[in-house]
Amino acid sequence: MLSCLGLLLAGALFAQPVDSHPPRERVRIDAGWRFAFGHPFDPARDFDHATGYFSYLAKAGYGDGPAAPKFEDAAWRELDLPHDWAVEAPFAANGSHSHGYKAVGRNFPESSVGWYRKSFVVPAADLGRRLSVEFDGVFRDSVVWINGFYLGRQPSGYTGFRYDLTDYLNYGGENVIAVRVDATMEEGWFYEGAGIYRHVWLTKTAPLHVAPWGTFVTTEVTGDAAEVIARTTVANEGSAAATFEIEQSIVGADGRSVAAAKLDAVTLAPGGTGEFPCRLSVAHPRLWSVDTPVLHRLVTTIRAAGAVVDRYETTFGIRTIRFDPQAGFFLNGQRVELKGTNNHQDHAGVGVAVPDALQEFRIARLKEMGSNAYRCSHNPPTPELLDACDRLGMLVLDENRLMGPSPEQLSQLEQMIRRDRNHASVILWSLGNEEWAIEGNIKGARIASSMQAFAQRLDPTRRTTVANSGGWGGISTVIDVVGYNYIAQTDPDKQHAEFPRQPGIGTEETTTQCTRGVYFDDRPNAHLSPQSKGDSGGNCEKGWNYYATRPFLAGLFFWTGFDYRGEPTPFGWPAVSSQFGLLDSCGYPKAPSYYLKSWWSDQPVLHLFPHWNWPGREGREIVVGCYSNHEAVELLLNGRSLGKQAMPRNGHLEWKVVYQPGTLEARGFRGGSVVETNRVETTGQPAALRLAPDRAQPTAGGADVSVISVEVVDAQGRTVPTADNAIAFELQGPGRILGVGNGDPASHEPDRYIETVRLVTVEGWRGRIAPAGTAAPSASESQAPLAQLGNWLAPLPRPGEVYDLSATFSVAALPADARLSLFLPSLGVKTTLWINGHEQVRDLDTTAGGPALTLDRSQLVEGANRIQLIVTPLADGHNHMPELSRLGSVRVWTPAPAYRRRAFNGWAQVIVQTTKDPGEIRVTAQSEGLSPAVVALTSQPAP
Ligand code: GAL
Repeated sequence: MLSCLGLLLAGALFAQPVDSHPPRERVRIDAGWRFAFGHPFDPARDFDHATGYFSYLAKAGYGDGPAAPKFEDAAWRELDLPHDWAVEAPFAANGSHSHGYKAVGRNFPESSVGWYRKSFVVPAADLGRRLSVEFDGVFRDSVVWINGFYLGRQPSGYTGFRYDLTDYLNYGGENVIAVRVDATMEEGWFYEGAGIYRHVWLTKTAPLHVAPWGTFVTTEVTGDAAEVIARTTVANEGSAAATFEIEQSIVGADGRSVAAAKLDAVTLAPGGTGEFPCRLSVAHPRLWSVDTPVLHRLVTTIRAAGAVVDRYETTFGIRTIRFDPQAGFFLNGQRVELKGTNNHQDHAGVGVAVPDALQEFRIARLKEMGSNAYRCSHNPPTPELLDACDRLGMLVLDENRLMGPSPEQLSQLEQMIRRDRNHASVILWSLGNEEWAIEGNIKGARIASSMQAFAQRLDPTRRTTVANSGGWGGISTVIDVVGYNYIAQTDPDKQHAEFPRQPGIGTEETTTQCTRGVYFDDRPNAHLSPQSKGDSGGNCEKGWNYYATRPFLAGLFFWTGFDYRGEPTPFGWPAVSSQFGLLDSCGYPKAPSYYLKSWWSDQPVLHLFPHWNWPGREGREIVVGCYSNHEAVELLLNGRSLGKQAMPRNGHLEWKVVYQPGTLEARGFRGGSVVETNRVETTGQPAALRLAPDRAQPTAGGADVSVISVEVVDAQGRTVPTADNAIAFELQGPGRILGVGNGDPASHEPDRYIETVRLVTVEGWRGRIAPAGTAAPSASESQAPLAQLGNWLAPLPRPGEVYDLSATFSVAALPADARLSLFLPSLGVKTTLWINGHEQVRDLDTTAGGPALTLDRSQLVEGANRIQLIVTPLADGHNHMPELSRLGSVRVWTPAPAYRRRAFNGWAQVIVQTTKDPGEIRVTAQSEGLSPAVVALTSQPAP
């Protein structure tokens, strides 16, 4: 039953760590970051970063501006990650069409570079351990410093990356991570967000530890038994050779160990890394599948000199996968038709900063539609999305961003494969999408071959695909599994006839493009009725019929599951979002999603459309459609039968109906009897609001969310399908509203209502050394301007003398609720400070930090305001002027306005996040003339 390389033992394998801390700690450090906008090319607006005589690339540890550990960031906005500043930005007609007309990018340098800083304490007891910081993804071009030391640069907005911090840390003290993010450039042709939009982790291990992404678990199933092959890479970052044991245990969903093995007396030289494979047998395994997504955990324990030095867990599923050129895709030996959707990363309200629970919400909405497959178009997803797919049983086509064989491109592919290859849900790697310059030529064939061979070496258990558009004879001749983007421009039958040993899959196919709840085009408002010939040439019925009748194809992925920001085809401004989704950007179903649900799922479906509120269309004909998987459907209007029709397989039904208000009723028949009835009624006017959370008991801790649906209903509680009432939201208790949405692809309402923090630089510094006893500042004319602040070397005063300094800051007209605070660095032991001649503080102790004070608005003027300081120098005999940060700023803070959003065709959505405290969270929705609604969530104590 066991067969590790080396001496193998089964049995109880666990021991307690001897240290006070666990052998490995991995904690999210999402909370408590500081944020401010910098500038892509104007150093003065980029906090003078990279202007120091010796700046960060010149000398180790000389990170300047915000990269410097002493930089004063107290004035910056405080926020928690994940954060997407693009979703917070206003819409602008000169914004990027593909990115959804947000005021971010090339035309908006003042909001395209963001700085993030975070201070954290590392206990003295961590000395001797290996510490690293891990970013799941930053959009984009990030540069990271720790304590002023440059760590590196990651151009990709999608690749996760890590930096080892061990040598740079202050053990038993404060440490500062600084990140500069530049979202000026676009990587894709769709909304990509901006900022640290995925989690950040701090990992601590012993010097001898499982390497990052250091396990690779594969499974083979024969009859009622499974072989699990666990390859573990161990790194010895200690200074001496290490001898150790590796214990492997497989833990089932019920928490019980189902197999164990041990590898004894393994050695690694200092600095050495080794991969140690091990085979474990599992009798009667519970297999992972779409319907029963059973997960196992491999617990890897490294033990040296009797002590546990690392414990590493890998979640995996026992399952087999196979693509067959004639018969499609097989999971555990059973053919599974891939009923998939493509998706970008963003959701209503939050942009790409999607909390983990919202990933789960999104995957659940797709499963509800009967979908079993998800293509991460066109980039590697955040790992938490794959976790949700593992847990919920969603097959994943995981896609690489850059196609090419250069070290940078291959390294991105490698990172994706190493990070994601243990996910049960991942069944195929995509190397690229519609690479027009190469897909139909020999260069494409060469590049795809190189990448494919590279991917195969990293993961021999999965095959690779590339999504092809119109170019044939290049990539398509060498790729393992050919991907077809749209039957309107590809010919799978022809390719299959020419390459009969090549499996194929529909990587993109047209949905019935439309706006949710819209049944007649309203082009000036960018609202589209269901298109029988959408922008990519068809509709979901056409696409599904093609794939459903060709078993040699493994299935398809519709473009798209959810609407996404950007690419608002066929419209431009003022439309800002795509309308390809089967679900809108909130996840509310559009009518055609019921077409797929009726043929994809085994749930009974009987969906009538359109709605029946058409004042002004009385007496005119309206086509009424029905998506259903019943054998026949009868339609009635106000009790009168309009006929019963047999439902064609993979089809839908239509009746031409002369409109009169009232009730449309559908009766679904099976075996001659009515098995389901559904009604669509003409509703009354909006009368009330209704709120319903997806989960009423989220977990406290600051990460979990509840997604609340908002409906406008009539006096009888029926959703009013045309309602667009403006709704105001309020929250009380330990929670916060993260964002709001409504699925309108042309809405310019904010998704997030946030506090605004504007920083005004304190500038024009002048100064002199004043005689002992000076108690009042001199006129600024009598002082010399201080040259180049960042490099100003102040003369040292003699005992008793003081610095006499002055500077200015300018404020324009301010909103009534704006609050202003002044933040200065410490310039000496004691500071007396005046603003516009009004004394603010006298002899304030500023040894540890400079003055930080709230300004009295009645003492300020529009335009230039004067700051004056008398500062008693520090007594250490050194130059006191901070060289590495600017000398102060005024923060203009305006509180977040209350959340509001219009309903769109009856619906809106509010996303609520818990805080660290448990308790009752009450969300109230109000709209003029409507009865308000309240919902209470109970935030549960975190386990
Ligand atoms: C495809 C492309 C997608 C999206 C879609 C819109 O060609 O791969 O990313 O742009 O068209 O129709």
